[in-house]
Amino acid sequence: MFVTVQVPATTANLGSGFDAVGVALAWHSFVTLEPYDNLVVEVVGEGEKEIAKNENNIAVKALRTLLRQLPEDVVKPLSKGFRLRLENRFPITRGLGSSAAARVGVLVAANILLGEPLTLEQILKLATELEGHPDNVAAALFGGIVVAVSSEEGVTCVKFSPPLDFRIALLVPDFALETRKAREVLPSTVSRADAVYNLSRAALLVAALATGQIDRLKVAMQDKLHQPYRQSLMPWLAEVFEAALNAGALGVHLSGAGPTVAAWCEDESKGEAVAKAMCQSLRAAGIDGYWHVVSLDIQGAKVVQRG
Ligand code: HSE
Repeated sequence: MFVTVQVPATTANLGSGFDAVGVALAWHSFVTLEPYDNLVVEVVGEGEKEIAKNENNIAVKALRTLLRQLPEDVVKPLSKGFRLRLENRFPITRGLGSSAAARVGVLVAANILLGEPLTLEQILKLATELEGHPDNVAAALFGGIVVAVSSEEGVTCVKFSPPLDFRIALLVPDFALETRKAREVLPSTVSRADAVYNLSRAALLVAALATGQIDRLKVAMQDKLHQPYRQSLMPWLAEVFEAALNAGALGVHLSGAGPTVAAWCEDESKGEAVAKAMCQSLRAAGIDGYWHVVSLDIQGAKVVQRG
């Protein structure tokens, strides 16, 4: 008995929508889970050398948390142990939601193996608690564009698919940036002016994406709550943003906590031109990297194999 779940990369924040807006990308990893006599973790692809293959693995921790929360008879199929295979096809520690993908992937797989004791909303709540913010996990779970808010009522989330077939040009710099570090540089308080700057743009962003008013995206993705502070860790950021917009991007933002940059484009050829311009700008700053143009994933995590 095993289950393989396909789970998308995600880009979070979209500039103004800090910790609330997320988008699933058509760039997928795979999580396979099967009951076993003890714990075996296999990691192939991105991070195969660095990622822990024991109880410290974040997917193992997520699964252990789930198993602790459910009644003994329900968790029986996995209580002796399990084999977990993480096939990572998109980069880790680059702001593309690899930790969210691992957590969501293993929780969805375990839920299937255990006879679906949890609803998707309960999986979202647990994954959000583990992740610390709901944006990446909600997008990884549901696909499309999500707005997700944590409150005392759990995670309140709306998913929608945009009316247009966007392409997102991703610039992936050759260095790792832990989300924890990228959050440490953020101030604990902000001015009312900056709060209003972002909330007005975040509202504009969602309205523009939902209605396909793409000429609004440039302003809608502007941000004063995290990107200006994170620039201290990525001094090349402003120039890369400028290169993307000059090459015709509709809007540009740091992907999650970075260092990947995401530029929204109308089609594939514009996406490639924008990606190349961003890559050139990054290299001019002495940093290597590569680019990848993706479309949106509108399905989210899904079971692709079971046996
Ligand atoms: N919203 C989170 C942050 C996303 O910006 O820190 C991390 O991928």
